[in-house]
Amino acid sequence: MSTPTLLLLPGDGIGSEVTPATRKVIDWFQSTGRATFNITEGLIGGASYDVHGIPLTDETVAQAKKADAVLLACIGGPKWDTVSYDKRPEAGLLRIRKELGLFANLRPAHVFDALAAASALKLELVKGLDIMIVRELIGGVYFGEPRGIETLPNGERRGFNTQSYTTSEIVRIGRVAFELARKRKGRVCSVEKANVMESGVLWREEMTKLHAAEYKDVELTHMYADNCAMQLVRAPGRFDVIVTDNLFGDLLSDLASMLTGSLGMLPSASLGAADSSGRQAALYEPIHGSAPDIAGKGIANPLAMILSFAMMLRYSFNMAANADLLEKAVHSVLASGIRTADIAEQGQPTVGTTAMGDAVVKELDRLAKS
Ligand code: IPM
Ligand code: MG
Repeated sequence: MSTPTLLLLPGDGIGSEVTPATRKVIDWFQSTGRATFNITEGLIGGASYDVHGIPLTDETVAQAKKADAVLLACIGGPKWDTVSYDKRPEAGLLRIRKELGLFANLRPAHVFDALAAASALKLELVKGLDIMIVRELIGGVYFGEPRGIETLPNGERRGFNTQSYTTSEIVRIGRVAFELARKRKGRVCSVEKANVMESGVLWREEMTKLHAAEYKDVELTHMYADNCAMQLVRAPGRFDVIVTDNLFGDLLSDLASMLTGSLGMLPSASLGAADSSGRQAALYEPIHGSAPDIAGKGIANPLAMILSFAMMLRYSFNMAANADLLEKAVHSVLASGIRTADIAEQGQPTVGTTAMGDAVVKELDRLAKS
């Protein structure tokens, strides 16, 4: 097999800080001969807008399509608040998801034992928590047509978007959820608002059909999205895999992330369909945003991006042993009490972005020798 190519997109805000910290981890895997990549870098978001006047160029799209996997830090910031909607950093992110066909967004909400006390919920509710949110990423109201803002004959303005899902869109995301559940605790909870939305009625019917036809060994339950938000806070331990649409997935994954104590810890994977050769477009990114409030201060937590790289090793390159090793290194670093500010308890000393990345590399070294 030829050397896999990896496209790094540092993006905006703290992206230029957490990316070098992650790069050191990638380089550790390379220098120890555990993995080799051809790495290129590109621009996305505000960083691209500042240079090219658009948040994602055709060249970067081509680079991403050619790469075996993309590792993105984060995009956006107040600097581009006044830029027109279609040129905002967010538009670049939506376009790369769409162009690469990344319909399946995997967002694990996993509580690290060492951080359980940092959760917004009581320790006994979140200890050992391990939920996988499978969010549909290139359909629904984010992309539905018609959309726009129009002026009505009476002079009033009307903003509108379209929520829409087809059978095939529902079935392909359903399959991802059921397959994942088979490798986990065997439970899928499908989430929509079938009580008020036709797209939700169809979602529920198609999930039920798919389950009956192919996945009877997995447990399937259904839940309305509002109830799911409530249950995630009340009894999060009941969930294994949650499968839901683009918008509900956006909301519920932010909610679930806070169960874990910090957005700064959570990675995600966005995957496309495998082609006939088994090749699958994939983009990995932390769940956190560009954190403009702390950008440039060197204090951002790089662990979500480092863990996104671990997901890449696991899902794109089938390197489970390397992924396990890296996740273990992160666990040990946390267990040893090393903290960036976002995950520190009151009074606990903190380290910056670079030091946290270096601590992971040092721990990798130690684990590799033991
Ligand atoms: C996310 C983000 C994006 C989304 C924004 C930045 C467009 O919130 O990845 O969850 O809404 O999908
Ligand atoms: Mg979001």
